[in-house]
Amino acid sequence: MARCMMSRSLSGPSMKKAILIAVVCLAAFCGFISYAYGWTAYYSAWRLVVGPRKRPLRDIKFERTETRRARGQYLVEGVLACFRCHSERDWNQDGAPVPENARGAGHRFDKEDIPNLTAPNITPDRETGAALWTDDMLARSIREGIGHDGRTLHPQMWAAAFSKLPDEDVASIVVYVRSIPAIRNSLPKTQLTLSQRFRFNTRPEPITDVVPQPKFATPKDRGEFLEFVADCAGCHTDWYHPGSVVNGQLFAGGNLIQASNGDKIFSPNLTPDPSGISYYDEKMFIQVIRTGKVGARKLHGVMPWVFYRNVSDEDLKAIFAWLRSQTPVKHIVDNSEPPTYCRLCFQKHGGGDRN
Ligand code: HEC
Ligand code: HEC
Repeated sequence: MARCMMSRSLSGPSMKKAILIAVVCLAAFCGFISYAYGWTAYYSAWRLVVGPRKRPLRDIKFERTETRRARGQYLVEGVLACFRCHSERDWNQDGAPVPENARGAGHRFDKEDIPNLTAPNITPDRETGAALWTDDMLARSIREGIGHDGRTLHPQMWAAAFSKLPDEDVASIVVYVRSIPAIRNSLPKTQLTLSQRFRFNTRPEPITDVVPQPKFATPKDRGEFLEFVADCAGCHTDWYHPGSVVNGQLFAGGNLIQASNGDKIFSPNLTPDPSGISYYDEKMFIQVIRTGKVGARKLHGVMPWVFYRNVSDEDLKAIFAWLRSQTPVKHIVDNSEPPTYCRLCFQKHGGGDRN
């Protein structure tokens, strides 16, 4: 009876009127948002409603070859440092390495003050890990920032940096991640807030073209690529103080990084300025990355040197060549000194008063 009345009242002219009113209201609402907050906000609102851009999954299985497994291991345990986030780490040891029985088993970001975020268990465990996700689900997560379930991943998953990886490297990463021991570890799922989805849903970029292995003319070009996928600049640049002198100055340091044991450490200046690392040479750079020590000074484990130490001499030299080609920026950030106000980045950090 009720259904019958409803269909009667919403049929014919009144139905058309209701649709018209709805369309006018929606247009007015969209117009208001774009007027008040700009078109970007309008696009974000649109993506919040319709979901992120994503491509359909392909039915592929990457052939499990030893070459791929070894290449995948080199990338995952090295320059891409996947287990830095996808594992608990042992903060009682220098560099906070990943215990053997935790590799890839996942990690909650509570101690980094990011609530409700889980870097999931990506070991091949059937119940709590990634065993049932397809190869393409993994590949799409890594490079395009879309989870196995089709939702946008939090940008703490560094898909933006990994987006430049060639197809063969992505296949190798997947083959390697499939080969590590399965670990049973159940973690709560990520819960993104409405405001996070509003901001993050616009980010994923589908990759549908073939991405070939890049060719590099010089070690510096190779270093540029390696630095991009490792995103050294993501940590070693102050992104968050608009209007300050060093804001957005690549590698000039001053970004406050929170470790997964709760410690907070400022990233130092890596530019070839005397306040940066102009005094390094190639040999010293390799030694710092391999040992986690600058002379007698130990680097905090938030600097992922325990992973980067697995990077080959050739690749480390390339990264150093790229760092060397950067614009020198004056900005003293010295974590061994007490925090004092810095007029260049508007924060209190070691050596700030010397700027
Ligand atoms: C800086 C931290 C960080 C690094 C480095 C990182 N991840 Fe993630 N990853 C995350 C977080 C956090 C999530 C979950 C995001 C969410 O739930 O919204 C995630 C999600 C994923 C997913 C998607 C899981 C799903 O739900 O479908 C896969 C697969 C994955 N990561 C693999 C990798 C691989 C492989 C690497 C290295 C190439 C890597 N991650 C490096 C933090 C990281
Ligand atoms: C997760 C953030 C993070 C990432 C990613 C990162 N670093 Fe660091 N790095 C730090 C922090 C924080 C320190 C300071 C540690 C300390 O003072 O104990 C540091 C220190 C260093 C130092 C020592 C500088 C000195 O003499 O004091 C070098 C060299 C360095 N990083 C190079 C790199 C390179 C190269 C990459 C990319 C391959 C990279 N870092 C990626 C956070 C990061």
